[in-house]
Amino acid sequence: MTQTLAIGPYNADEKQGLTQEVSPIYLDDPSKLSGLSQDERDAITAVAYKGHHAFGADQLELLPNVGIIANYGVGYDAIDVKEASTRGIKVTNTPGVLNDDVADLAVAMLIMQGREMEHASAWARSGKWAEQGEYRLNRKVSGGLAGILGLGRIGRDIADRLAAFKMDIHYWSRSEKDTPGWTHHTNPESLANAVDYLIVALVGGPDTENFVSKEVISALGPRGIVINISRGSTIDEGALLDALESGAIAGAGLDVFQNEPNIDLRFYELDNVVIQPHQGSGTVETRAAMAKLQRDNVLAFLAGKDVLTPVN
Ligand code: 8YV
Repeated sequence: MTQTLAIGPYNADEKQGLTQEVSPIYLDDPSKLSGLSQDERDAITAVAYKGHHAFGADQLELLPNVGIIANYGVGYDAIDVKEASTRGIKVTNTPGVLNDDVADLAVAMLIMQGREMEHASAWARSGKWAEQGEYRLNRKVSGGLAGILGLGRIGRDIADRLAAFKMDIHYWSRSEKDTPGWTHHTNPESLANAVDYLIVALVGGPDTENFVSKEVISALGPRGIVINISRGSTIDEGALLDALESGAIAGAGLDVFQNEPNIDLRFYELDNVVIQPHQGSGTVETRAAMAKLQRDNVLAFLAGKDVLTPVN
């Protein structure tokens, strides 16, 4: 007997796909695992995982026969991949299919923040445009200096978009990449020093924790705008809040936060931050593609075939 377990906040369409193809047991989050009987847990060979709760040794201990954790999302920092590998468990993710949406959101937040679109919208809606006249002048975004921190698949798609906005592209990545003449930096501080816009597209997890440090933020300077579409953990959030409050940098556009969705209340007081509720991949089309890729990985595993997008 083999059983798939689907953990996480799946929507109705995703549940329909999962039910049709793999008839899983559903749990809202990993803490509910201990509520299953031992027989139920012993039968589980595949987990379709969605969400950002930690999934590691404690959970795997309860699933002695699991062979795959198929993650819904490109970022798999919630899953202890090392622990899974030690136990011979495959981990898969959903790369590629979400690049466009996440890159679109990064560019949109940069333009929203640079062109003060939230304030300008409030100016029009409040009647001030009619009463007091034109909205104040803001800053030109096209042609600026952009720094991409992490030139993986998503970072690359962001850079390509910003190149079309006539920006001078700088980047940091562990090794120099084949690019159309973009400038490689060997450390994040040097990157921040060279640009006005710092776009964070790093992989999450312990290796990149607080990678955007206080020093990196201060190297960006008073015209600096930080955009983050990766994980909240990649930025020293206290240092970022200090810099935003003091005007040490100009602003930020953030889709991800530490402790989301219960984000630091200091963010709500700031008028130089565009806040998005971790919706980078959140379109109907992309979420359907992510859900399908997750199911295809589970199905491949159950059929004894190679999984499509392995992490380990
Ligand atoms: C989430 C994401 O997976 O792909 C990622 O890494 O962060 C998102 O697409 C999504 O929010 C579902 O949890």
